[in-house]
Amino acid sequence: MSDIIPVFDQVKFFEFNQRGDNRGHLVVVEGAQDVPFEIKRVFYIYGSDRDVVRGQHANRKSEFVLINVSGTSKVRVKDGKDNEAIFSLNRPHTGIYLPKMIWKDMYDFSEDSVLLCLASEHYDSEEYIRNYDDYVKEVCK
Ligand code: TYD
Repeated sequence: MSDIIPVFDQVKFFEFNQRGDNRGHLVVVEGAQDVPFEIKRVFYIYGSDRDVVRGQHANRKSEFVLINVSGTSKVRVKDGKDNEAIFSLNRPHTGIYLPKMIWKDMYDFSEDSVLLCLASEHYDSEEYIRNYDDYVKEVCK
């Protein structure tokens, strides 16, 4: 099943254009143009303490772009095959693209962190893998 092989080298950092003028900044993220998928779902995470670890799952179908539109956080990604990387989200015009079947942890949230998540799929709890051992089994089979 080639479509469940995680593609670690597809994880990438995006820098969006800032359309700033003397009134302030504006960042536009258009589905399938500024991110590599049509956006079907938007959610955002805020009010998480610094010691909270969120995510802790992989998605069989969904791809994401995460943007800290306020404050800062970190994202740790793993592919279940000893590859691991940590990204700092600390500017509102940058984001991290996460392909499907990547394990992700979001943590180290600043008090003012608002983490905007753009997703390629509608919510479906069945496509989430929330146990790391199950995830490793699934990527290695
Ligand atoms: P969860 O996946 O644990 O959040 P995160 O991984 O971002 O820390 O989701 C928390 C709760 O919200 C859980 O009960 C599922 C629900 N939820 C939805 O109903 N729709 C969604 O799009 C998301 C992301 C979560």
